[in-house]
Amino acid sequence: KRHLLSSADLDRDQIKAILDTAAEMHTVQSREVKKLPTLRGRTVVNLFFEDSTRTRSSFEIAGKWLSADVINVSAKGSSTSKGESLRDTVLTIAAMGVDALVIRHSASGAAHQVAQWVDAHVVNAGDGMHEHPTQALLDAYSMQQRLGDLEGRHVAIVGDLTHSRVVRSNLITLRTLGAKVTLVAPPTLMPSGIGAWAASDGFELSHDLDAVLPTADAVMMLRVQRERMSGGFFPTAREYTVGYGLTRPRLETLTRANPDAVICHPGPMNRGLEIAADAADAAQSLVLDQVSAGVAVRMSVLYHLLSGEETQS
Ligand code: CP
Repeated sequence: KRHLLSSADLDRDQIKAILDTAAEMHTVQSREVKKLPTLRGRTVVNLFFEDSTRTRSSFEIAGKWLSADVINVSAKGSSTSKGESLRDTVLTIAAMGVDALVIRHSASGAAHQVAQWVDAHVVNAGDGMHEHPTQALLDAYSMQQRLGDLEGRHVAIVGDLTHSRVVRSNLITLRTLGAKVTLVAPPTLMPSGIGAWAASDGFELSHDLDAVLPTADAVMMLRVQRERMSGGFFPTAREYTVGYGLTRPRLETLTRANPDAVICHPGPMNRGLEIAADAADAAQSLVLDQVSAGVAVRMSVLYHLLSGEETQS
């Protein structure tokens, strides 16, 4: 079975094929009648053990617009709350005859594990602090729509790198597409081992956002994930915004240096912490474009995994 578990599963040609198909799906999104018959008779289960607004909704819409039957199962309201294990839960759902499982889980590696247990396509919709490959694809799609080919473009990814699954997947996808990447964070939010990865892969690390901004074509602000910070939030919220927030003055610096530069945020945003409302709502902001692209990209991913195969049920 084909899966999408990690951004590293996709080479440059495969990413380009998914983004090209997403562009076709995006035209479907703007039509009055959006449904395609492509996945009629296929069943997709969204299995979410962590909260989500964008990813779960867009996978559901994506599956439905491809005419698949889509079922949502979340930890709250399922027998997980009675103590049923992840393995028993996925084997139970798989036994009903599903074609694809889209899974979000707080444990890094959960999607890889599930793919070994079931005879269905598995899509990683975010596993702990590890990866979020469809987010990286929709980010690349959104940036490409405004900037053109990302080869040689400079993307600054800023913020809570330690707790971010988005940064790992984006690094892999952006570097595969030939973009230049700089990771910017306070020393306390730089993951251990990132220096060795940067040295071997050729991306940059910085603690100085103001030095990086003037050369950026795209600035991706990451959410400060306070729910994953058991030891408290260090630096303080105020220090963080002063040092690493995309404030109005920094937006002006970015725009002065490069009027075509764009701003991304995977959401949900902490407005006033990592990104000011002025930046989140600026003409340069792709935040809602990213949400819209999420449907098209997830349609494309489901299409590439499932089309042309026999149904399970
Ligand atoms: N970007 C993202 O994964 O958002 P959700 O948690 O709302 O799905």
